[in-house]
Amino acid sequence: MEIIIDTANLEEIKHYNEMLDLAGVTTNPSICKKEGKVDFFEHMNAIRDIIGKEKSFHVQVVSQDYEGMLKDAETILDRIDDQVYIKVPTTETGLRVIKELKQRGVNVTATGIYTKMQAYLAINNGADYIAPYYNRMENNNIDAREAITEMARLIASSGSQTKILAASFKNVSQVTSAYECGAQSATLSCDIIKMALNLPSIQKAVDDFKTDWEAIHGVGNNIASL
Ligand code: E4P
Repeated sequence: MEIIIDTANLEEIKHYNEMLDLAGVTTNPSICKKEGKVDFFEHMNAIRDIIGKEKSFHVQVVSQDYEGMLKDAETILDRIDDQVYIKVPTTETGLRVIKELKQRGVNVTATGIYTKMQAYLAINNGADYIAPYYNRMENNNIDAREAITEMARLIASSGSQTKILAASFKNVSQVTSAYECGAQSATLSCDIIKMALNLPSIQKAVDDFKTDWEAIHGVGNNIASL
């Protein structure tokens, strides 16, 4: 199981990298937009410095034509490092780019996946990760649970090394479903992680333990002060 964080905010990445055993960081142009007009490569390299080279770092191409996508990929690999996972939208042109990048031995994440057929084509082209967009699938009346289950089944039966990196979550239930359906990895926004831990019942349980302890040992005393 892998947990990846879906943000380009340096403070959030530092915070969650300390709190969780993160497998990596994903970005896309919309996520980067939230950071304002920063120097793109300076910012991407700052993310790499925080997470280190052993974690996966996924950076998306922005061009839409074949040559442009390949040049974007080459520039990312040159100006960040050659271990970056190049995120390529799973379009007709994107699949051609994925095939070419895999022939060059580049790490690739096939993104923007709404359908099983997109996933199967990307798996067949050797993508390292496929990123089904859970919430956006549901917005389009596509059964994300069924699709991810079948993607996982096909990966297992074909002996493929591709991993499912479920993405685009708007609630905690979507995340747990994605893992239960067989996604090896999921990329979560910080809001989703906060949502998962901000149940009033969790804080109440912790407060009740403190109240019970202090009833016996006195207010302000803890185990270390015994
Ligand atoms: C992964 O990095 C995806 O690009 C991202 O999770 C998409 O999320 P969104 O549907 O909230 O834009």
